[in-house]
Amino acid sequence: MGIMRTKSIEQSIRDTEEPEFRLNKSLGPLDLTVFGIGVIIGTGLFVLTGEAAAGYAGPAIALSYVVAGLACALAALCYAEFASTVPVAGSAYTFSYAALGEFVAWLIGWDLILEFTLGAATVAKGWSGYFVIVLEFLGITVPGALIPSSEGTGYDFVAVAVIVAMTVILVLGIKLSSQFNQVITAIKILVTLFIIGFGVWFIDAANLTPFIPEPAPGGGAYGSALDAYLLPSILGIDTIYGVTGIFTGAALVFFAYIGFDIVATTSEEARNPQRDIPIGIFASLGICTVLYILASVVFTGLRPYKELATSAPAATALENTPFPAAQLIVSAAILVGLTVVVMILILGQSRVAFAMSRDNLLPRWLAGVHPTFRTPYRITIITGVVASILAFFLPLTTLGELVNIGTLAAFVLVSLGVLVLRRTQPDLPRAFKTPLVPAVPIAAAALCLFVMGFLTIGTWVRFLGWMAIGVAFYFLYSRSHSRLGRTEAAGGHTEES
Ligand code: ALA
Repeated sequence: MGIMRTKSIEQSIRDTEEPEFRLNKSLGPLDLTVFGIGVIIGTGLFVLTGEAAAGYAGPAIALSYVVAGLACALAALCYAEFASTVPVAGSAYTFSYAALGEFVAWLIGWDLILEFTLGAATVAKGWSGYFVIVLEFLGITVPGALIPSSEGTGYDFVAVAVIVAMTVILVLGIKLSSQFNQVITAIKILVTLFIIGFGVWFIDAANLTPFIPEPAPGGGAYGSALDAYLLPSILGIDTIYGVTGIFTGAALVFFAYIGFDIVATTSEEARNPQRDIPIGIFASLGICTVLYILASVVFTGLRPYKELATSAPAATALENTPFPAAQLIVSAAILVGLTVVVMILILGQSRVAFAMSRDNLLPRWLAGVHPTFRTPYRITIITGVVASILAFFLPLTTLGELVNIGTLAAFVLVSLGVLVLRRTQPDLPRAFKTPLVPAVPIAAAALCLFVMGFLTIGTWVRFLGWMAIGVAFYFLYSRSHSRLGRTEAAGGHTEES
């Protein structure tokens, strides 16, 4: 009882009008697209591509990008319908509160915390890898005690420093953040275009043949059963490279696409969310997909794929060009670009937690907006602190895989949510409608689940553990504190599904 209660869409929009919780409505379509690209291109392309090509897919990593991009495009078609219907902060959390009930909304919100907070930690670790390279070029060696070893063990002080800096900028206000973001995103797009346009001249076709390497024994062979990939081990095809490797690679580089959904989390700050949010989502996702496919061909064409598993693969690949300065310029630009990703991931997390606290599913105190800066400063600071702790201790790939599984799970729920909302609220105005319902939402959910199957059993165990904590929190705290639940108990207007 109660856990199926849904918050009406009108109520969600009314909540945003309360002065205590009002955010600035300042973002236009260009801001949103730039916002999207600003967060999408990052550690996924510049770091994980190397590891995914070296360890799983070889040159066929370009095909992994096609698979992961397809899953995202299908999910985006569903996201956009939700986002254009419920233009309040909180992304998939808010949408599902209206469509699927409080408990599912809670689960999605809990999932998104995993995506954003761990995502920020992951990208900060990517930042730290390029930071070391840039300093090395300048003749400065970073003391080993401040960064993880090449095996990924050890503490990462550099990653913590970048998270703290971005948290401070966010607390100071979104308008500042948005302008900062535009400049840096432009640098990031230019550097990706430069890698493609410059690198293509030095490709050695021998590095790209065979495009799909011969299959070899897989993850389970490396260590414990937790290192094996879920679906391949169930099917008895636990191999790296070959066709399986394309999917394992896709499950890892999926990280590179994370962020387009964050455009939807800022809808409360958009001037015309119904029209501009879908534009922002599709423009940013489309541009990034093309860039990824081209850039990954260039990386694997420049250097034998097995040599790309470094903490700064873009620099490693460019070593095979006759211009060492290119490595420095690209690494420095990537460094600048990754700062924005860290910032927007923290922003996305603060907005989701903001929406959850406004509904009293998390303590309401967290949602307070700063009197001068008009930003949800408490939750922003807490996010920064948690992300710093995670980045300090955990290896990049462990974090990245966990982010991916959490995000994919949220996409599955959102896709199914479109089907439910069509049935329960068929007449609701939708500025953007998912085409070919139910085929597209079903395909989106199925493909995301399939890709999740190519993550390790260890990642699944950690993910299910996180979700179990979330369920416990819901029943011990959120369910009884829920603002909607209390209104309901007081006889106020609610919609029970
Ligand atoms: N997609 C973002 C990245 O690759 C999170 O860094």
